[in-house]
Amino acid sequence: MTAQVIDGKAFSAKIREKVASDVTALQDKHGIKPGLAVVIVGEDAASTIYVNSKIKQTSEAGMESFHFALPDTISEADLVAKVHELNADDRVNGILVQLPLPKHIHESAVIEAIAPEKDVDGFHVINSGLLATGGKGMVPCTPLGCLLMLKDTLGDLSGMKAVVIGRSNIVGKPMAQLLLQENCTVTLAHSRTRDLAGEVKQADIVVAAVGVSELVKGDWIKKGATVIDVGMNRIPAPERGEGKVRLTGDVAYDEAAQNAAYITPVPGGVGPMTIACLLRNTVTAACRQAGLDDNDL
Ligand code: GUN
Repeated sequence: MTAQVIDGKAFSAKIREKVASDVTALQDKHGIKPGLAVVIVGEDAASTIYVNSKIKQTSEAGMESFHFALPDTISEADLVAKVHELNADDRVNGILVQLPLPKHIHESAVIEAIAPEKDVDGFHVINSGLLATGGKGMVPCTPLGCLLMLKDTLGDLSGMKAVVIGRSNIVGKPMAQLLLQENCTVTLAHSRTRDLAGEVKQADIVVAAVGVSELVKGDWIKKGATVIDVGMNRIPAPERGEGKVRLTGDVAYDEAAQNAAYITPVPGGVGPMTIACLLRNTVTAACRQAGLDDNDL
């Protein structure tokens, strides 16, 4: 039996449809048009692709999109000043500064400059603190997308054993918090974990977010487990032509699909969900800033 594929592309399209209808309702009932500002520093190829996709989908959802492409020579102080300007701009409900930033800029200084209520990435310490303590903050987009797929696929996650591989602030740590909130028993594994295979073998839910191509082998996956692959590794693919790359996940997909009940593909799994959740977070931010509940739209 091979696993059922969790179609992130189709699921994210449904989320974007709901976002678009919420945007229409916000405009019709309250005269509000949510706005998202995306800031990119420098010309990293992968970041440019992501940012262009974010900008396009923001407009397609009927929201206002503001785009700032700044040179990689910009100082930390000038970038922080730009963020302060966006904090004060009422047309802007959400602010996203694409990471990574050039080495001379402290990412934490820029993230902490964003007004927490406009931090649609959910990276500000106030938002990570609210997530850790069960409060109502902004939740990071990629782990939120993973959780929505898990709940859509499995329903109630209570009591399940979940292993999250990778302890980044962007994915691993918030993912572990979200699964804990859903009453999973959570193991947060990382590069120093002694017996990673042994940990994964016990898991009903595996979320791999380490950035190592096909690290998780098929025989690590328990029969009937659900596998969410956050990996986006660009591997040289000379068979496709000179300089060409292939996108792989952190899980050896073909092998893992022999044991898993459900699995996300790469591409077409987690990737499209991240942007859909960014749009969702922007609507949530706009509602909260206007004193509205986004569940009432
Ligand atoms: N770089 C890679 N992923 C992300 C993300 O989700 N948000 C931002 N701001 N930068 C990223």
